[in-house]
Amino acid sequence: MNSRNTTVAVYGAYGHTARFVIDELERRGFGLILSGRDEERLLALGNDHSGAQIRPASADDPESLHRALSGAAAVINCAGPFAHTAVPVLDAAVRAGAHYLDVSAEQVVSLAIFERAADAGTVVVPSMAFFGGLGDLLATSAADGWTDADAVEIGIALDSWHPTEGTRLTGQINVPRHLIYTGGTFVPPPQPPRTLKWEFPSPTGTLEVSELATTDSVAISRHLSTPEIRVHMSQQPLRDVRDPGTPAPVAADDSGRSSQTFLVDAVVRRGEEQRRATVSGRDIYAVTAPLVVEATSRILDGRITRTGAAAPGELFDAQDFLRALAPEPLTLLWDGR
Ligand SMILES: NC(=O)c1ccc[n+]([C@@H]2O[C@H](COP(=O)([O-])OP(=O)(O)OC[C@H]3O[C@@H](n4cnc5c(N)ncnc54)[C@H](OP(=O)(O)O)[C@@H]3O)[C@@H](O)[C@H]2O)c1
Repeated sequence: MNSRNTTVAVYGAYGHTARFVIDELERRGFGLILSGRDEERLLALGNDHSGAQIRPASADDPESLHRALSGAAAVINCAGPFAHTAVPVLDAAVRAGAHYLDVSAEQVVSLAIFERAADAGTVVVPSMAFFGGLGDLLATSAADGWTDADAVEIGIALDSWHPTEGTRLTGQINVPRHLIYTGGTFVPPPQPPRTLKWEFPSPTGTLEVSELATTDSVAISRHLSTPEIRVHMSQQPLRDVRDPGTPAPVAADDSGRSSQTFLVDAVVRRGEEQRRATVSGRDIYAVTAPLVVEATSRILDGRITRTGAAAPGELFDAQDFLRALAPEPLTLLWDGR
């Protein structure tokens, strides 16, 4: 670390995803500000992170947010549903001169953040997470320099999906606002959703997948000129996440990660040519931490010189970014062109 300010505030700090983010920030030597609306839970969390500053703040109270973020070089907003937190935390971050990143899986929120922060004086990256950031980095890696394409298709295979409370609450708000990107624009998805067979690399093989509205399409549409960005997921996790009886994720070992596995396969087509990039790994919540912390690190170490809102694929060298996270927590399964 050099003499730059490397203090990072995490808002929503005692949430499931935020805890992975805080551990990753700490592991990499960043200073920590832990913020959120429940002071007692922040203090309890602080017991595990000596040296962290505890700063309660409410998304409804701009002055408390401003105080919480003052002195931070960046804020990572992990408090979702983001429909309630993204705009106030973004505004407070920009006012405090801090970069803003979030892990939103809400398309309309990410679209709004791109618009609101287009000319922000700091760097703003919404959806720097499993949904959003990872798909964009994969599609950008696969595109390998193409700035336009006929179509981007992403296939996601999860062996299961045990959702957190935050995922369930977000789904309640977000499902009626789902959008897919087709014909060069965002439109409501057809009902029933498009279903097709996806050939994943072995040993997963061919699975039936259904179209899913994710923030991957928002991020990719910012910088890759293409009329079609379609994202699909295998059936078992969709059944799990829609079942109110599915339990929350539990740690399978000391890393805190659950046993859930993921495979994300991005295919970019132009004319007769097709390019592909694929990764596998464990736990979609946990892997969000190295993704958003690697992004924060690249912004704070001076590699990023532009400001304003940007998608991961336009901000970072996508192939270099993904390689930095391999072989753990990501396994890169490139099969080239
Ligand atoms: N894009 C992706 O791939 C990805 C990956 C992981 C997570 N996420 C998203 O991240 C969010 C959190 O997920 P999670 O798994 O960490 O859920 P979680 O364990 O339930 O944590 C949610 C956190 O958000 C806080 N929060 C919620 N509403 C708030 C509000 N209005 N004001 C202040 N704080 C608020 C909660 O605090 P309280 O307990 O005080 O409400 C808690 O700290 C969800 O929206 C989820 O969809 C997205």
